[in-house]
Amino acid sequence: MNPRSQSVLIFIIAFFLLIDSSYTAKDVNIAKRIIPQLLKVKKSGEHKMILEVRWDGTGIKNNEKVITKLHGCNPDGTLTFRRDTKKHKFSDRKTTYELAVHKKKISLQCLLEFTGDLQTNVTFGFRT
Ligand SMILES: *[C@@H]1O[C@H](CO)[C@@H](O)[C@H](O)[C@H]1NC(C)=O
Repeated sequence: MNPRSQSVLIFIIAFFLLIDSSYTAKDVNIAKRIIPQLLKVKKSGEHKMILEVRWDGTGIKNNEKVITKLHGCNPDGTLTFRRDTKKHKFSDRKTTYELAVHKKKISLQCLLEFTGDLQTNVTFGFRT
């Protein structure tokens, strides 16, 4: 290939790269999605534990409500729970539940739900 046709070719390739990048530079909407983070369970007394629920997300405004609902744990009757009373916003990034343990050394499976338009279910397990 002579130098002249080489430079023409380079010009053509550069031209297509330019067109291509002008198409990829469009803004797109990010789907609104809550992303639950690792849950933590801490012992806080002889028959008490604290469940810490953290979240991250995409496309969610800081002042949007985040409501979680702990549906319960299997086997039934192992514990009762109470959510913190605060009304949470996305920017809090965390809520806690106080667990009262009625039976010890039991392996549990629990279901936690993020409600509303952030609908996500999380199942998790731990030992009392
Ligand atoms: C999450 O769990 C609740 C309670 O079992 C149920 O009503 C809801 O349909 C579930 N949502 C999804 C997306 O699985």
